[in-house]
Amino acid sequence: MRKGSGLFITVEGGEGAGKTTVIRGIAQRLQKRGRKVVVTREPGATALGQKLRALILDPALRTDTTTEALMFAADRSDHIKSVVLPALAAGAAVISDRYTDSTRVYQSGSDTASWELEALIRIATGGLNPSRTYLLDVPPEVGLARASARGELTSFDARELAFHQRVRERFLALARQSGGRIQIVDAQLPPESVLRIITEDLDRLLRQK
Ligand code: TYD
Repeated sequence: MRKGSGLFITVEGGEGAGKTTVIRGIAQRLQKRGRKVVVTREPGATALGQKLRALILDPALRTDTTTEALMFAADRSDHIKSVVLPALAAGAAVISDRYTDSTRVYQSGSDTASWELEALIRIATGGLNPSRTYLLDVPPEVGLARASARGELTSFDARELAFHQRVRERFLALARQSGGRIQIVDAQLPPESVLRIITEDLDRLLRQK
């Protein structure tokens, strides 16, 4: 969805997929083309979100996936209203490190039916969908080794390999069902190649606007 002349892009992927580096590169390229860019993330982009993020990621407070989904939804609702919508209205390109597809992947399961998750997402976002989502796809063994080498593993990452494999498969399945909104990018390629693929796709997208 486009608001004003802004452009909403999200970047998704498992641990160690290189989202931070890729987002920095996309932002620089869009800025060079004269666009105002706002880089943001979920969870934790607002003052309230930072408190929620600390609660959500606290290993001592691990809870069921429904409760998690509600906390991510609270963070998202605040994020959309205080950061994303104002930036889009001002004509910026907004790049979010994770968004609703993370909820669809990480909070899906036996506790919550997918229509219930979609309802929650609808409430939190008011129906704001990204124009494009880049799924940085990497085998979990590779991603976890990268994240661990950087000392970046959270309580979400400390789960067994099978969990991360399920995450990868769910992301890939979502991408295949997304009608082209989610572009799968091989994150094992060198960073310059990943960025070139994304930039070319973004240029095509901007020409269509
Ligand atoms: P973070 O340290 O930001 O991880 P990463 O660098 O991999 O993005 O931690 C965010 C964690 O929250 C991550 O493991 C994915 C998870 N998450 C969900 O489970 N559901 C969601 O809706 C979102 C936005 C994130």
